[in-house]
Amino acid sequence: TRYTITVEPLGREIECDEDQTILEACLRNGVWLPHSCTHGTCATCKSEWLDGEVDHGQASSFALMDFEREEKLLTCCAKPRSDVTIEADLDVDEDLEVFPVDDYTGTVTVLEDIATDTRRLVVELDREMGFNAGQYMKLLVPACADGPEVDRTYSMANPPTQTRTLEFHIRKVEGGRGSDGWVFKDLAVGQQIRLSGPYGRFVLKTGDDRHGIMVGGGTGLAPMKSMVRHALENGEYEGELTLYAGGRSRAWLYDVDVFRALEEEHEGFTFRPCLSDETPEEVAASGDDPDRYGYGLVTDVIAADHDKLSGCAGYLCGPPLMVESALKVLMSKRLFPRDIYREDFFNEA
Ligand code: FES
Repeated sequence: TRYTITVEPLGREIECDEDQTILEACLRNGVWLPHSCTHGTCATCKSEWLDGEVDHGQASSFALMDFEREEKLLTCCAKPRSDVTIEADLDVDEDLEVFPVDDYTGTVTVLEDIATDTRRLVVELDREMGFNAGQYMKLLVPACADGPEVDRTYSMANPPTQTRTLEFHIRKVEGGRGSDGWVFKDLAVGQQIRLSGPYGRFVLKTGDDRHGIMVGGGTGLAPMKSMVRHALENGEYEGELTLYAGGRSRAWLYDVDVFRALEEEHEGFTFRPCLSDETPEEVAASGDDPDRYGYGLVTDVIAADHDKLSGCAGYLCGPPLMVESALKVLMSKRLFPRDIYREDFFNEA
């Protein structure tokens, strides 16, 4: 059965299948609604529920409290049971180009180890796809003995001008279906995979002239790579950019050479790889230049690098704890929360 979803304040009407979430139906029809995790945990997609019947699906009780369930819904979980009217908080950048979500098939062309427990996956799509630098795809993990088909979300690391060759960075999570049970196990070059997207609201504010402070924890570097390359190679950003990438040791960092080359080539771009468990002495002993790294947690290095960050823009991506502590450091340096954009890993597995 199909129902009509009316999205206020736009007054747009779209069709939604009974087994489809309101968010999916809207994104696939080019109506952009705020969202981040798409799995009922972050509450970014919470909307006023004005009329009609829905099934709240997998909305978690902390993202959508019991007392809210009569008036609000999570568009990423709610499925219609009649025609429905919602009012979304469309606090969206006017300039943001909307690329409708669609399904794609891709062929794996590269699958390589790039750091400890970290792989690069490159997929050639069956056709071109538009997206904003920073957005992500859902990759379908095939059904196996451990369970039915599931999806896992990974950010594009390639700039959006590269419309058919998508690059992803994947960290192995012990026992994780997507990483341990698939990308680090059965997946191989030449195989076909299914994916859908683009999703997410963590995007580079193109044309901005604020100094961008970017922090990528682990494979949180992926969307940063897309943004930095788009900014520098395609001239899509006016301000300075400083990128912090954190790892325990150099064995955990990757694409250092790529960012160093960009740093050489583009004035206004600074790359700060940070090592939390390696000392300058150890780096020097292996013949590397110790001055090319920061030492300590990324947050410590940022704190030491800057007295004040007012007027800058922050971009944070990584595990929730890292994002939270980076947020605190930026705010302690006088950056307002509204100038800080964040993407947490919700289902890194
Ligand atoms: Fe819906 Fe996170 S709860 S996008």
